[in-house]
Amino acid sequence: MRGKVTVVGAGAVGATTAQYVAQGGYADVVLVDIVPKMPQGKALDLMQAGPVIGYSSIITGANDYDATAGSDVVVITSGSPRKPGMSRDDLLKINMNIVGSVTREIAQRSPNAVIVVVTNPLDAMCHVALKASGFPKERVIGQAGVLDSARFRTFIAMELGVSIEDVSAFVLGGHGDTMVPLPRYSTVAGIPITELISAERIAAITERTANGGGELVQLLGTSAYYAPGASSADMVEAILLDKNRIMPCSVYLSGQYGVNDLYVGVPIKIGAGGMKEVIEITLTESEQAALDKSAGAVRELVEAMDRISAAS
Ligand code: NAI
Ligand code: 2OP
Repeated sequence: MRGKVTVVGAGAVGATTAQYVAQGGYADVVLVDIVPKMPQGKALDLMQAGPVIGYSSIITGANDYDATAGSDVVVITSGSPRKPGMSRDDLLKINMNIVGSVTREIAQRSPNAVIVVVTNPLDAMCHVALKASGFPKERVIGQAGVLDSARFRTFIAMELGVSIEDVSAFVLGGHGDTMVPLPRYSTVAGIPITELISAERIAAITERTANGGGELVQLLGTSAYYAPGASSADMVEAILLDKNRIMPCSVYLSGQYGVNDLYVGVPIKIGAGGMKEVIEITLTESEQAALDKSAGAVRELVEAMDRISAAS
């Protein structure tokens, strides 16, 4: 039986996620947005791509949540972009409210769903979804590491002129420029890239990865959506098909990697029901320091959200 996936926010990332999920053929999709008619239009357009591409998923658009009932996975991409003159805290407050209200609607109608959060600031928004849903932490997971490691893989393949198929890469930490690409666990056909690429070039590639989102904003004038959509759909597929994949995701840590009560990106086993296990590896001193710094940046945002909540 096909699964049921809701994607909230039918903007660039949401619609692209819906497209990749529909193409997978394993789920029907409900696209929800506050903009009247727009999710219905995108859903119909995606349905009409089905006969050409060869998928038969049913895609429905809606401006409310009734059609989302009984979803197996819900991807939250709804949010507002940062506008001129807006402070970080202004944006945080707006997206906290959006993600909080959307999550409550979803949790009421799909109490057994796994929530995949995509809205930025990613790790902070996972905290909002966890609290608003009341779901166990295993069922509220953030998408960032799949995208960040896909960027890292792409740059490694470009550097070496090899197929992306043989490249795997490992990224830890929060979604932002403090993320921690791990070269010694990044390989080409099993060979660590430290054997294949000079230290200087690895440093350049890891820096480009950490600034990967910003590079796309510079080029596009808005944030990326093809790779983010593909990454979100990859997580949805792993959950719905119970693949037990090992993927870097933002999850609520309770002591693992020395991080407590915080969403940070780490490798997890992901399948039916969401996170099955955090995979812990031993880090070098400098890797641990970089992860601590990245977790510190997430904690600052969580503390800012606490201040915002207390003031309102
Ligand atoms: P977008 O502006 O194209 O789409 C956002 C959509 O959310 C809009 O259609 C808007 O109408 C909708 N929306 C706003 N409030 C809503 C509400 N209360 N209920 C339902 N829908 C609502 O933005 P885009 O490019 O799709 O990005 C979405 C989010 O994903 C942003 O926060 C962005 O920063 C984030 N992002 C995260 C990535 C990650 O790896 N975690 C990667 C790329 C983007
Ligand atoms: C990205 O990494 C901005 O989170 C967005 O493309």
